[in-house]
This record gives sequence, C-alpha cells and structure tokens, in this order.
Amino acid sequence: MSTQSSPPTLLLVGASRGLGHAMAAEFVKRGWNVMGTVRGGTARTLLHDLADAHPGHVEIEVLDICEPLELAALSERLAGRTFDMLFVNAGTTNRDPSQTIGEVSTEEFVHVMITNALSPMRVIETLAQYVGPAGLIGAMSSGQGSIGNNETGARELYRGSKAALNMFMRSFAARHADSSRAMVLMAPGWIRTEMGGAGAPFTIEENVPRVVDVLLSKRSTPGLQYLDYLGRTVPW
Ligand SMILES: NC(=O)c1ccc[n+]([C@@H]2O[C@H](COP(=O)([O-])OP(=O)(O)OC[C@H]3O[C@@H](n4cnc5c(N)ncnc54)[C@H](OP(=O)(O)O)[C@@H]3O)[C@@H](O)[C@H]2O)c1
Repeated sequence: MSTQSSPPTLLLVGASRGLGHAMAAEFVKRGWNVMGTVRGGTARTLLHDLADAHPGHVEIEVLDICEPLELAALSERLAGRTFDMLFVNAGTTNRDPSQTIGEVSTEEFVHVMITNALSPMRVIETLAQYVGPAGLIGAMSSGQGSIGNNETGARELYRGSKAALNMFMRSFAARHADSSRAMVLMAPGWIRTEMGGAGAPFTIEENVPRVVDVLLSKRSTPGLQYLDYLGRTVPW
C-alpha cells in the first residue's frame, strides 16, 4: 500500500520501447515508482535510459511473457512486494497484418494468440496476488479487439487475439467479482510506434498521458471496464 511518504508503485510488463516505455516515463513523471520488465538478452533499452535518469524510481526486471518458467521465477522474486497497479502492455502482431484469417499461417496464428491472449493472462493470473486491495489490474487491449465495432475486417488475426484477451479478462473478472480492485482493458488509440506505423493518427506524446489519466481515474472503481484513451466505454 502506498503512504504519503512512499510513492505509489506500478509493475509494468513490456516496458522496453513504444507505449510501454512511454507509460513508464509518464508514471515516473507523476511521482510513481515503476518496476518495468524487458526481455532477457535485450542489450539496452529505453527503459534502461529512464532508470539512469531517475535513480531509485525505476527497477528493471526480465520477463518474456511467453516463457512460463521466467514468469514463475519473477513471481518468486516479487514475494513480499505489493504494487498499486499491474499493467501488461506487451503485445505483437503478424508480419503482414493485411492478411485475412484464411491467409494467416498456423505458425503466426499460434505466435500472435499466445503473445497477445494467453501470455498476458498468465501474467495476470500469476502476479495479481501482488496487487493491493485498492489497486488496479490492467492489460493493453485495442479498439481492434471490439467485436461490436468490427464492421470492416482487416488486421484479422490481431483483432481476434485482442478479442480473445478481452474474453479471458472477463472470465478473470467474473472469478474475482468480489474483489475491490479495479480492472481495465485499454484501447489506447492508433499510435505511431513500431507496431502502429508512421500512418497512425496519434503520437505517443498525445495519447500516453491520456491513457495514464484514464488508468489513474479508475483506480478506486472495482470491476472490469473496457475503455479507450478518453475513458469512453468500448463496446465488447
Ligand atoms: N501502437 C498502436 O497503435 C496500438 C494500438 C492499440 C493497441 N496497441 C497495443 O499496445 C501494446 C504496445 O504496442 P506498441 O505500439 O508500443 O508496440 P511495439 O512498439 O512493437 O512494442 C511492443 C512491446 O511489447 C514487448 N513484447 C512483445 N512480445 C513480448 C514478449 N513475448 N514478452 C515480453 N515483451 C514482449 C516488446 O518488447 P521487445 O522490445 O523485447 O520486443 C515491446 O516492449 C501492444 O499490446 C499493442 O498490441 C498498440
């Protein structure tokens, strides 16, 4: 639990670059302490630069979310810790997102579904125990994960993986219906990152502070919500 003398704490999974790194920087800017994860073998990431710039406020842990043994080891290392927020940002897409679902290879289907749907939920199932009763558990979904809003197709494997993530998170929330903790599936908007591409309408600088605003505003609201970067409910 945070007190006035100890800053609130975020465990941010997938913080090496892109939206994850920018979220880490934004939370630090707002006075939080952040433990961010990167994949092992990554030489140096933007998160390392952030840690150097803010000594004592950024811890770096190693986790490939698709490696259950790494997850179990991280969980052991966290014994005794409590966080105010756990947020799983890590995600991926297939090499050619324009492929229809019939064109996607089995190998890419498995990779994207495991990375975007199964692994974030394994992280949440394993690490939720370290989130305090007034805390928030979140995952980076996407507006593309909305079944109700899908009237165009395109990015079909990615859409399916985020819709699956949403469904699994709803099951988690249903099993924890008596929990006082807030839960958020975030649709951050289409943002210029390596994944979002140069044609995306939003910059990291525009939308990451909005995403952080929404997460902070939902901290004391128990139950699961699927929200966009302005705090608007996204249809399932
Ligand atoms: N950009 C957008 O427009 C947009 C829109 C909606 C939702 N999102 C979602 O937002 C999240 C971040 O996207 P981004 O745009 O920042 O993408 P990005 O620049 O490609 O970054 C992806 C992040 O996920 C990490 N990651 C991927 N696979 C991982 C694994 N197996 N284990 C641990 N970390 C892993 C990457 O780590 P490495 O550095 O080790 O590869 C990196 O930190 C994703 O979940 C994405 O689906 C993005």
